[in-house]
Amino acid sequence: MQRCAALARHSELPGGLTRVFLSPEGRAAGELVLGWMREAGMQAQLDAIGNAVGRYEGERPALPCLMLGSHLDTVRDAGRYDGMLGVVSAIECVHALNSRGKRLPFAIEVVGFGDEEGVRFGTTLLGSRAIAGTLDAKVLDTRDASGKSIAEAMREFGLNPERLSRVKRKRSDVLAYIELHIEQGPVLEAEGLPVGVVTAINGFSRLRVTLRGDAGHAGTVPMGLRRDALAAAAECVLAVEKTAREHPELVGTVGRIEARPGAINVIPGEVQFTVDIRAPQDSLREQAVAEVRRKIGEIAAPRKIEAAIESLQDLGSSACAPWLMQQLVRAVEAQGLRVHRLPSGAGHDGMAIKAIADIAMLFVRCKGGVSHNPAESISEGDAGTGFRTLLSFIENFNAIPA
Ligand code: GLV
Ligand code: MN
Ligand code: MN
Repeated sequence: MQRCAALARHSELPGGLTRVFLSPEGRAAGELVLGWMREAGMQAQLDAIGNAVGRYEGERPALPCLMLGSHLDTVRDAGRYDGMLGVVSAIECVHALNSRGKRLPFAIEVVGFGDEEGVRFGTTLLGSRAIAGTLDAKVLDTRDASGKSIAEAMREFGLNPERLSRVKRKRSDVLAYIELHIEQGPVLEAEGLPVGVVTAINGFSRLRVTLRGDAGHAGTVPMGLRRDALAAAAECVLAVEKTAREHPELVGTVGRIEARPGAINVIPGEVQFTVDIRAPQDSLREQAVAEVRRKIGEIAAPRKIEAAIESLQDLGSSACAPWLMQQLVRAVEAQGLRVHRLPSGAGHDGMAIKAIADIAMLFVRCKGGVSHNPAESISEGDAGTGFRTLLSFIENFNAIPA
Protein backbone atom coordinates (compact mmCIF):
# COMPACT_ATOMS: atom_id res chain seq x y z
CA MET A 1 0.00 0.00 0.00
CA GLN A 2 2.92 2.31 0.82
CA ARG A 3 4.54 1.55 -2.50
CA CYS A 4 1.32 2.35 -4.39
CA ALA A 5 1.25 5.64 -2.49
CA ALA A 6 4.90 6.32 -3.37
CA LEU A 7 4.22 5.67 -7.06
CA ALA A 8 1.16 7.92 -6.95
CA ARG A 9 3.42 10.86 -6.12
CA HIS A 10 4.87 10.70 -9.64
CA SER A 11 2.15 12.57 -11.46
CA GLU A 12 1.77 15.16 -14.20
CA LEU A 13 -0.85 16.96 -12.08
CA PRO A 14 -0.03 17.89 -8.52
CA GLY A 15 -2.78 16.69 -6.20
CA GLY A 16 -4.01 14.02 -8.62
CA LEU A 17 -2.56 11.09 -10.51
CA THR A 18 -1.88 11.26 -14.25
CA ARG A 19 1.10 9.40 -15.65
CA VAL A 20 1.25 8.68 -19.35
CA PHE A 21 3.65 6.63 -21.46
CA LEU A 22 7.19 7.98 -22.02
CA SER A 23 6.70 10.98 -19.71
CA PRO A 24 9.17 12.25 -17.09
CA GLU A 25 6.76 10.95 -14.41
CA GLY A 26 6.73 7.57 -16.15
CA ARG A 27 10.51 7.48 -15.97
CA ALA A 28 10.54 8.38 -12.25
CA ALA A 29 7.98 5.64 -11.50
CA GLY A 30 10.01 3.16 -13.58
CA GLU A 31 13.22 4.01 -11.69
CA LEU A 32 11.47 3.60 -8.35
CA VAL A 33 10.19 0.18 -9.38
CA LEU A 34 13.63 -0.90 -10.67
CA GLY A 35 15.09 -0.02 -7.26
CA TRP A 36 12.46 -2.14 -5.48
CA MET A 37 13.12 -5.01 -7.89
CA ARG A 38 16.85 -4.90 -7.09
CA GLU A 39 16.15 -4.79 -3.36
CA ALA A 40 14.00 -7.90 -3.82
CA GLY A 41 16.92 -9.77 -5.38
CA MET A 42 16.24 -9.20 -9.08
CA GLN A 43 18.36 -7.93 -11.90
CA ALA A 44 16.39 -5.03 -13.29
CA GLN A 45 16.43 -2.51 -16.11
CA LEU A 46 14.21 -0.60 -18.51
CA ASP A 47 13.83 -2.44 -21.81
CA ALA A 48 13.91 -0.78 -25.23
CA ILE A 49 10.25 0.35 -25.09
CA GLY A 50 10.44 1.60 -21.49
CA ASN A 51 8.99 -1.35 -19.56
CA ALA A 52 10.60 -1.89 -16.13
CA VAL A 53 11.74 -5.52 -16.18
CA GLY A 54 13.16 -7.51 -13.25
CA ARG A 55 14.44 -11.09 -13.33
CA TYR A 56 14.87 -13.50 -10.44
CA GLU A 57 16.82 -16.54 -11.56
CA GLY A 58 15.59 -20.04 -10.80
CA GLU A 59 17.57 -23.02 -9.52
CA ARG A 60 19.87 -22.61 -12.52
CA PRO A 61 20.55 -19.54 -14.64
CA ALA A 62 18.73 -18.96 -17.93
CA LEU A 63 15.65 -21.10 -17.18
CA PRO A 64 12.37 -20.10 -18.87
CA CYS A 65 10.34 -17.71 -16.75
CA LEU A 66 6.97 -17.35 -15.14
CA MET A 67 6.10 -13.78 -16.12
CA LEU A 68 4.22 -11.60 -13.63
CA GLY A 69 3.29 -7.98 -13.93
CA SER A 70 0.92 -5.17 -14.71
CA HIS A 71 1.23 -1.57 -15.89
CA LEU A 72 2.75 1.63 -14.50
CA ASP A 73 0.93 4.17 -16.69
CA THR A 74 -2.42 5.60 -15.65
CA VAL A 75 -5.52 7.25 -17.06
CA ARG A 76 -6.09 10.97 -16.41
CA ASP A 77 -6.99 11.66 -12.78
CA ALA A 78 -6.52 8.00 -11.95
CA GLY A 79 -6.63 5.84 -8.86
CA ARG A 80 -3.37 4.52 -7.44
CA TYR A 81 -3.99 0.75 -7.67
CA ASP A 82 -5.02 0.15 -11.30
CA GLY A 83 -1.86 -1.50 -12.63
CA MET A 84 0.49 -0.58 -9.82
CA LEU A 85 -0.95 -3.09 -7.33
CA GLY A 86 -0.04 -5.96 -9.66
CA VAL A 87 3.53 -4.74 -10.10
CA VAL A 88 4.25 -4.16 -6.41
CA SER A 89 2.53 -7.42 -5.36
CA ALA A 90 4.68 -9.39 -7.80
CA ILE A 91 7.86 -7.70 -6.50
CA GLU A 92 6.75 -8.46 -2.93
CA CYS A 93 6.35 -12.16 -3.85
CA VAL A 94 9.90 -12.27 -5.20
CA HIS A 95 11.10 -10.46 -2.09
CA ALA A 96 9.44 -13.14 0.06
CA LEU A 97 11.15 -15.94 -1.89
CA ASN A 98 14.51 -14.18 -1.89
CA SER A 99 14.47 -13.49 1.83
CA ARG A 100 14.09 -17.26 2.39
CA GLY A 101 16.82 -17.95 -0.16
CA LYS A 102 14.26 -19.93 -2.16
CA ARG A 103 14.91 -20.67 -5.83
CA LEU A 104 12.33 -22.38 -8.02
CA PRO A 105 12.64 -24.69 -11.03
CA PHE A 106 11.89 -21.66 -13.23
CA ALA A 107 12.90 -18.01 -13.30
CA ILE A 108 10.47 -15.23 -12.40
CA GLU A 109 10.25 -12.04 -14.39
CA VAL A 110 8.26 -9.07 -13.16
CA VAL A 111 7.26 -6.47 -15.73
CA GLY A 112 5.95 -2.97 -15.04
CA PHE A 113 4.50 -2.27 -18.48
CA GLY A 114 5.02 1.26 -19.76
CA ASP A 115 1.69 1.63 -21.55
CA GLU A 116 -1.51 -0.25 -20.96
CA GLU A 117 -4.03 2.59 -20.90
CA GLY A 118 -3.15 4.09 -24.27
CA VAL A 119 -4.05 7.56 -23.00
CA ARG A 120 -1.24 9.41 -24.75
CA PHE A 121 -1.29 7.83 -28.21
CA GLY A 122 -4.82 6.35 -28.40
CA THR A 123 -3.40 2.96 -29.32
CA THR A 124 -2.69 0.84 -26.27
CA LEU A 125 -0.75 -2.10 -24.78
CA LEU A 126 2.43 -0.74 -26.36
CA GLY A 127 4.77 -2.26 -23.75
CA SER A 128 3.18 -5.70 -23.73
CA ARG A 129 2.76 -5.81 -27.52
CA ALA A 130 6.49 -5.08 -27.87
CA ILE A 131 7.30 -8.02 -25.57
CA ALA A 132 4.91 -10.25 -27.50
CA GLY A 133 6.49 -9.13 -30.78
CA THR A 134 3.13 -7.96 -32.17
CA LEU A 135 3.90 -4.23 -32.17
CA ASP A 136 4.44 -3.35 -35.80
CA ALA A 137 7.20 -0.72 -36.17
CA LYS A 138 4.66 1.35 -38.20
CA VAL A 139 2.70 1.92 -34.96
CA LEU A 140 5.65 4.05 -33.78
CA ASP A 141 4.46 6.75 -36.25
CA THR A 142 1.25 7.23 -34.20
CA ARG A 143 1.12 10.78 -32.82
CA ASP A 144 -0.06 12.23 -29.53
CA ALA A 145 -2.28 15.33 -29.25
CA SER A 146 0.78 17.60 -29.56
CA GLY A 147 1.82 15.92 -32.83
CA LYS A 148 4.75 13.96 -31.38
CA SER A 149 5.16 10.40 -32.64
CA ILE A 150 5.87 7.41 -30.41
CA ALA A 151 9.31 7.09 -32.06
CA GLU A 152 10.10 10.75 -31.28
CA ALA A 153 8.88 10.38 -27.71
CA MET A 154 11.04 7.25 -27.32
CA ARG A 155 14.14 9.15 -28.49
CA GLU A 156 13.40 12.00 -26.09
CA PHE A 157 13.06 9.47 -23.29
CA GLY A 158 16.49 8.07 -24.18
CA LEU A 159 15.29 4.93 -25.98
CA ASN A 160 16.25 3.83 -29.47
CA PRO A 161 13.21 2.91 -31.62
CA GLU A 162 15.48 0.82 -33.88
CA ARG A 163 15.93 -1.56 -30.96
CA LEU A 164 12.21 -2.30 -30.65
CA SER A 165 12.57 -5.84 -31.98
CA ARG A 166 15.01 -6.71 -29.16
CA VAL A 167 12.16 -6.48 -26.65
CA LYS A 168 10.38 -9.43 -28.21
CA ARG A 169 10.32 -12.68 -26.22
CA LYS A 170 10.10 -16.17 -27.59
CA ARG A 171 7.27 -18.50 -26.61
CA SER A 172 9.87 -20.94 -25.25
CA ASP A 173 11.16 -18.25 -22.81
CA VAL A 174 7.82 -17.66 -21.08
CA LEU A 175 6.02 -20.52 -19.30
CA ALA A 176 2.93 -18.44 -18.47
CA TYR A 177 1.82 -14.88 -17.68
CA ILE A 178 -0.08 -14.11 -14.46
CA GLU A 179 -1.40 -10.70 -13.51
CA LEU A 180 -2.88 -9.58 -10.22
CA HIS A 181 -5.16 -6.54 -10.72
CA ILE A 182 -7.91 -4.76 -8.86
CA GLU A 183 -11.32 -5.88 -10.10
CA GLN A 184 -12.47 -2.38 -11.14
CA GLY A 185 -16.06 -3.58 -10.77
CA PRO A 186 -18.50 -4.41 -7.94
CA VAL A 187 -18.82 -8.22 -8.25
CA LEU A 188 -16.34 -9.42 -5.59
CA GLU A 189 -17.71 -6.90 -3.11
CA ALA A 190 -21.22 -8.24 -3.74
CA GLU A 191 -19.93 -11.81 -3.31
CA GLY A 192 -18.20 -10.86 -0.05
CA LEU A 193 -14.86 -12.16 -1.37
CA PRO A 194 -11.40 -10.53 -1.37
CA VAL A 195 -10.15 -12.23 -4.55
CA GLY A 196 -11.54 -13.89 -7.67
CA VAL A 197 -10.25 -15.86 -10.64
CA VAL A 198 -10.66 -14.25 -14.07
CA THR A 199 -12.09 -16.36 -16.88
CA ALA A 200 -11.58 -14.04 -19.88
CA ILE A 201 -10.90 -10.43 -20.83
CA ASN A 202 -13.48 -8.68 -23.01
CA GLY A 203 -12.34 -7.46 -26.42
CA PHE A 204 -12.31 -3.80 -27.43
CA SER A 205 -12.34 -1.55 -30.46
CA ARG A 206 -11.06 2.02 -30.42
CA LEU A 207 -11.93 4.57 -33.11
CA ARG A 208 -10.99 8.18 -33.74
CA VAL A 209 -13.63 10.20 -35.57
CA THR A 210 -13.00 13.54 -37.25
CA LEU A 211 -15.97 15.65 -38.39
CA ARG A 212 -15.34 18.62 -40.65
CA GLY A 213 -17.84 21.41 -41.24
CA ASP A 214 -17.34 25.17 -41.51
CA ALA A 215 -16.13 27.48 -38.78
CA GLY A 216 -18.06 30.76 -38.83
CA HIS A 217 -19.42 33.69 -36.89
CA ALA A 218 -21.81 32.62 -34.10
CA GLY A 219 -23.81 35.82 -34.52
CA THR A 220 -24.15 36.16 -38.27
CA VAL A 221 -24.61 32.74 -39.87
CA PRO A 222 -28.31 31.68 -39.85
CA MET A 223 -28.99 28.23 -38.41
CA GLY A 224 -30.06 26.79 -41.75
CA LEU A 225 -26.78 27.71 -43.41
CA ARG A 226 -24.42 26.24 -40.84
CA ARG A 227 -22.20 23.16 -40.99
CA ASP A 228 -21.63 22.83 -37.25
CA ALA A 229 -19.26 19.93 -36.55
CA LEU A 230 -19.92 19.91 -32.81
CA ALA A 231 -23.72 19.72 -33.17
CA ALA A 232 -23.17 16.72 -35.46
CA ALA A 233 -20.74 15.20 -32.94
CA ALA A 234 -23.36 15.56 -30.19
CA GLU A 235 -25.71 13.37 -32.22
CA CYS A 236 -22.88 10.88 -32.81
CA VAL A 237 -22.14 10.62 -29.06
CA LEU A 238 -25.79 9.76 -28.45
CA ALA A 239 -25.70 7.24 -31.30
CA VAL A 240 -22.78 5.45 -29.60
CA GLU A 241 -24.74 5.35 -26.36
CA LYS A 242 -27.91 4.10 -28.05
CA THR A 243 -26.03 1.37 -29.93
CA ALA A 244 -24.38 0.11 -26.75
CA ARG A 245 -27.70 0.11 -24.89
CA GLU A 246 -29.17 -2.27 -27.44
CA HIS A 247 -27.40 -5.27 -25.81
CA PRO A 248 -26.81 -5.87 -22.08
CA GLU A 249 -23.23 -7.06 -22.66
CA LEU A 250 -22.14 -4.17 -24.88
CA VAL A 251 -20.54 -0.97 -23.60
CA GLY A 252 -19.70 2.12 -25.63
CA THR A 253 -17.96 5.32 -24.56
CA VAL A 254 -16.92 8.63 -26.06
CA GLY A 255 -14.17 9.55 -23.60
CA ARG A 256 -12.51 12.44 -25.33
CA ILE A 257 -13.83 15.21 -27.57
CA GLU A 258 -12.21 18.32 -28.88
CA ALA A 259 -13.85 21.15 -30.87
CA ARG A 260 -11.88 23.60 -32.98
CA PRO A 261 -11.30 26.44 -33.02
CA GLY A 262 -12.96 26.35 -29.56
CA ALA A 263 -14.29 29.83 -28.87
CA ILE A 264 -17.63 30.94 -27.44
CA ASN A 265 -18.53 33.00 -30.51
CA VAL A 266 -17.30 30.66 -33.26
CA ILE A 267 -19.29 27.85 -34.90
CA PRO A 268 -17.13 24.73 -34.44
CA GLY A 269 -15.56 23.85 -37.78
CA GLU A 270 -13.85 20.62 -36.79
CA VAL A 271 -14.37 18.08 -34.05
CA GLN A 272 -12.40 15.02 -33.11
CA PHE A 273 -13.64 12.39 -30.68
CA THR A 274 -12.75 8.88 -29.61
CA VAL A 275 -15.02 5.84 -29.40
CA ASP A 276 -14.36 2.79 -27.20
CA ILE A 277 -16.63 -0.23 -27.70
CA ARG A 278 -16.35 -3.51 -25.77
CA ALA A 279 -18.10 -6.84 -25.50
CA PRO A 280 -17.39 -10.39 -24.36
CA GLN A 281 -18.19 -11.77 -27.83
CA ASP A 282 -16.15 -10.49 -30.75
CA SER A 283 -19.06 -10.74 -33.20
CA LEU A 284 -21.25 -8.56 -30.98
CA ARG A 285 -18.51 -5.92 -30.74
CA GLU A 286 -17.84 -6.01 -34.48
CA GLN A 287 -21.55 -5.55 -35.26
CA ALA A 288 -21.71 -2.59 -32.87
CA VAL A 289 -18.67 -0.95 -34.49
CA ALA A 290 -20.24 -1.38 -37.94
CA GLU A 291 -23.49 0.14 -36.65
CA VAL A 292 -21.71 3.13 -35.09
CA ARG A 293 -19.82 3.73 -38.35
CA ARG A 294 -23.09 3.59 -40.32
CA LYS A 295 -24.90 5.93 -37.91
CA ILE A 296 -22.08 8.50 -38.00
CA GLY A 297 -22.34 8.53 -41.81
CA GLU A 298 -26.12 8.97 -41.60
CA ILE A 299 -25.78 11.83 -39.11
CA ALA A 300 -23.07 13.63 -41.10
CA ALA A 301 -24.57 13.42 -44.61
CA PRO A 302 -27.70 15.63 -44.25
CA ARG A 303 -25.63 18.17 -42.30
CA LYS A 304 -23.08 18.24 -45.16
CA ILE A 305 -20.36 17.33 -42.68
CA GLU A 306 -17.37 15.27 -43.80
CA ALA A 307 -16.76 12.32 -41.52
CA ALA A 308 -13.48 10.40 -41.32
CA ILE A 309 -13.39 7.33 -39.08
CA GLU A 310 -10.03 5.84 -38.20
CA SER A 311 -9.71 2.49 -36.50
CA LEU A 312 -7.10 2.89 -33.74
CA GLN A 313 -7.14 -0.66 -32.42
CA ASP A 314 -9.19 -3.86 -32.32
CA LEU A 315 -8.44 -6.67 -29.91
CA GLY A 316 -10.51 -9.82 -29.60
CA SER A 317 -11.64 -11.19 -26.27
CA SER A 318 -8.92 -13.23 -24.52
CA ALA A 319 -9.71 -16.40 -22.63
CA CYS A 320 -7.61 -17.29 -19.58
CA ALA A 321 -5.98 -20.74 -19.83
CA PRO A 322 -7.93 -23.45 -17.93
CA TRP A 323 -4.71 -25.10 -16.62
CA LEU A 324 -3.55 -21.81 -15.09
CA MET A 325 -7.02 -20.99 -13.74
CA GLN A 326 -7.01 -24.39 -12.05
CA GLN A 327 -3.73 -23.59 -10.29
CA LEU A 328 -5.03 -20.14 -9.29
CA VAL A 329 -8.18 -21.80 -7.92
CA ARG A 330 -5.98 -24.00 -5.71
CA ALA A 331 -4.09 -20.94 -4.48
CA VAL A 332 -7.41 -19.22 -3.59
CA GLU A 333 -8.64 -22.38 -1.80
CA ALA A 334 -5.34 -22.53 0.10
CA GLN A 335 -6.35 -19.19 1.70
CA GLY A 336 -9.52 -20.89 2.98
CA LEU A 337 -11.66 -18.90 0.56
CA ARG A 338 -14.61 -19.75 -1.66
CA VAL A 339 -13.65 -19.50 -5.34
CA HIS A 340 -15.53 -17.09 -7.56
CA ARG A 341 -14.83 -16.92 -11.30
CA LEU A 342 -15.59 -13.73 -13.26
CA PRO A 343 -14.82 -12.09 -16.61
CA SER A 344 -12.93 -8.80 -16.95
CA GLY A 345 -14.67 -5.85 -18.57
CA ALA A 346 -11.42 -3.86 -18.51
CA GLY A 347 -8.49 -4.47 -20.82
CA HIS A 348 -5.17 -5.83 -19.51
CA ASP A 349 -1.63 -6.52 -20.70
CA GLY A 350 -2.38 -10.24 -20.84
CA MET A 351 -4.40 -9.57 -24.03
CA ALA A 352 -1.11 -8.82 -25.75
CA ILE A 353 1.10 -11.35 -23.94
CA LYS A 354 -1.34 -14.08 -25.00
CA ALA A 355 0.43 -14.11 -28.38
CA ILE A 356 3.46 -15.79 -26.72
CA ALA A 357 2.14 -17.41 -23.52
CA ASP A 358 -0.98 -18.71 -21.81
CA ILE A 359 -2.40 -16.14 -19.40
CA ALA A 360 -4.42 -15.98 -16.20
CA MET A 361 -5.47 -13.23 -13.80
CA LEU A 362 -6.32 -12.82 -10.14
CA PHE A 363 -8.69 -9.99 -9.23
CA VAL A 364 -8.61 -8.21 -5.88
CA ARG A 365 -11.83 -6.63 -4.56
CA CYS A 366 -12.02 -2.85 -4.83
CA LYS A 367 -14.31 -0.57 -2.89
CA GLY A 368 -17.66 0.13 -4.56
CA GLY A 369 -16.28 -1.15 -7.88
CA VAL A 370 -14.85 2.33 -8.41
CA SER A 371 -11.87 2.64 -10.79
CA HIS A 372 -10.45 5.09 -13.36
CA ASN A 373 -11.28 7.59 -10.66
CA PRO A 374 -9.17 9.08 -7.84
CA ALA A 375 -11.59 7.51 -5.34
CA GLU A 376 -10.35 4.02 -6.31
CA SER A 377 -9.66 2.16 -3.07
CA ILE A 378 -8.83 -1.28 -1.70
CA SER A 379 -8.37 -2.54 1.85
CA GLU A 380 -5.01 -3.47 3.30
CA GLY A 381 -6.43 -6.86 4.22
CA ASP A 382 -7.48 -7.57 0.63
CA ALA A 383 -4.12 -6.44 -0.72
CA GLY A 384 -2.54 -8.92 1.73
CA THR A 385 -4.85 -11.73 0.62
CA GLY A 386 -4.05 -10.98 -3.02
CA PHE A 387 -0.33 -11.10 -2.26
CA ARG A 388 -0.57 -14.38 -0.32
CA THR A 389 -2.67 -15.98 -3.05
CA LEU A 390 -0.20 -14.95 -5.74
CA LEU A 391 2.73 -16.20 -3.65
CA SER A 392 1.01 -19.55 -3.08
CA PHE A 393 0.36 -19.81 -6.83
CA ILE A 394 4.03 -19.09 -7.62
CA GLU A 395 5.42 -21.52 -5.08
CA ASN A 396 3.21 -24.34 -6.34
CA PHE A 397 3.36 -23.43 -10.02
CA ASN A 398 3.60 -26.44 -12.28
CA ALA A 399 4.58 -25.43 -15.79
CA ILE A 400 3.03 -28.53 -17.30
CA PRO A 401 -0.63 -28.01 -18.30
CA ALA A 402 -2.85 -30.60 -16.53
C1 GLV B 1 -7.75 -0.13 -19.36
O1 GLV B 1 -7.95 0.02 -18.17
C2 GLV B 1 -8.85 -0.30 -20.24
O2 GLV B 1 -9.59 -1.28 -20.06
O3 GLV B 1 -9.08 0.59 -21.08
MN1 MN C 1 -7.00 1.20 -16.32
MN1 MN D 1 -5.23 -1.66 -15.48
